[in-house]
Amino acid sequence: MKTNLEQILIVDDNNDTLQMISRKLSSRGWRVFTAQDVSQALQILEGGGIELVLTDHKMPKITGLDLIRHLHSHYAHIPVIMITGYPSIEGAVEAVKVGAEEYLSKPFTDDELFSAVNKAISKLRQNKRSRQQIPANPYGLIGISQPMQELYTIIQKSTTTNATVLIQGESGTGKELVARAIHYHSRYSKAPFVPVNCGAIPESLLEAELFGYLKGSFTGASETRAGYFITADGGSIFLDEISETSLSMQVKLLRVLQDKQVYMIGSKTPRKVNVRIIAATNKNLPLLVKQGGFRDDLYFRLNVLPINIPPLREHCEDIPPLVGHFLEKYSRENSLAAPKLSDAAIQALQAYTWPGNVRELENLIYRLVILFEGQGIDSSDLPDYMKFTLIQDRNYNRTLKQMEEEYIKGVLASVNDNKSQAASILGIDRKTLYNKLSEWTSSEDGK
Ligand SMILES: Nc1ncnc2c1ncn2[C@@H]1O[C@H](COP(=O)(O)OP(=O)(O)OP(=O)(O)O)[C@@H](O)[C@H]1O
Ligand SMILES: [Mg+2]
Repeated sequence: MKTNLEQILIVDDNNDTLQMISRKLSSRGWRVFTAQDVSQALQILEGGGIELVLTDHKMPKITGLDLIRHLHSHYAHIPVIMITGYPSIEGAVEAVKVGAEEYLSKPFTDDELFSAVNKAISKLRQNKRSRQQIPANPYGLIGISQPMQELYTIIQKSTTTNATVLIQGESGTGKELVARAIHYHSRYSKAPFVPVNCGAIPESLLEAELFGYLKGSFTGASETRAGYFITADGGSIFLDEISETSLSMQVKLLRVLQDKQVYMIGSKTPRKVNVRIIAATNKNLPLLVKQGGFRDDLYFRLNVLPINIPPLREHCEDIPPLVGHFLEKYSRENSLAAPKLSDAAIQALQAYTWPGNVRELENLIYRLVILFEGQGIDSSDLPDYMKFTLIQDRNYNRTLKQMEEEYIKGVLASVNDNKSQAASILGIDRKTLYNKLSEWTSSEDGK
């Protein structure tokens, strides 16, 4: 007799029915487990390996519907067949509503039983197959949506050329992750990947940091130092926040890009460098060019291979796998059990607008792993500003001022109250942010 690989759990408070179904399924080669109530069933489920559940509808204390709800939020991959005591449309509708794959009404024939089980099993196998077809985290990036697939294709293309890459995307979308992916999969991968945050280095130091200097070339140059371009020779330099460079620095960068050589400060002899250039920005560079804040010749030199990373709200179907990835990562790193998120919680996450993109989602999951005490996270356990997008956005009863305050507070919460990061997401300077915050505190004081 062939053995079916799937393990089936049957839950029914009536021992006779339990044994009867169990015998029938065992005779067809399935491994069968039985439970007379839901708490026994949960114990068996925790042991792992169960791939299909058949449950009675009416049971004392905890009903079959409750079990299905639990399965749906904790073991979403396990299909369920509901057995109803009498052919009631309501029972069936309810069963399907909470997530049962099939339902059987008692009394049922052997054919009906086997056909329901076979149907559920073949769906299960199909799901398994489609899960296997998805490439596992290409380039360490999570996401299988259409926009992410397009991103993988362009990353793949950029690893086979040495063209300059310009990565554009909102804050926290993964620009640095993509830059690293390109470097480590390209022919430059043996030499270093050198990230330079152009926005964080003061203008007066940036030239020395990038191009290096000879000993004595300026006060304080007590020794000769190679700059980032020379350090990255044979590898890639990642010019992050390129929009933050001054116009005079842009001229110098343009020269390096054209001539593939650098002049160390204090030296008249150029040094050849073979460096792959990857630049990134979260600003709208074409607009900046139009406004005169960025040189158009440098923009065209950089934008040979443009890569646009979509904001998270435009591929919210990737939120469940991202959540799974971060839950696993942070629970492993902190030796904590990963909390589970209910379907409603996932839906709330998918409805939220994510101004801080994947970084914001990552921070949230990190906090939930560390701080959440309990088993399952429901939508009510999520931060208030998330529920707010879900529930209140459809009520057009708030003033712009209220919206602004709530939104800004949401952004601040998403970046752990980091004012500079919040200001950058909001597209305002820190001073404006501080002014707004003090306005609210003073109006609260005055209440
Ligand atoms: N698709 C993804 N899969 C897994 N992790 C991701 C993904 N996208 C981003 N991340 C994670 O999100 C965080 C932010 O990514 P990263 O620093 O690359 O963003 P960024 O676009 O450079 O942000 P910023 O504009 O603020 O510099 C990182 O921890 C990164 O690992
Ligand atoms: Mg970055």
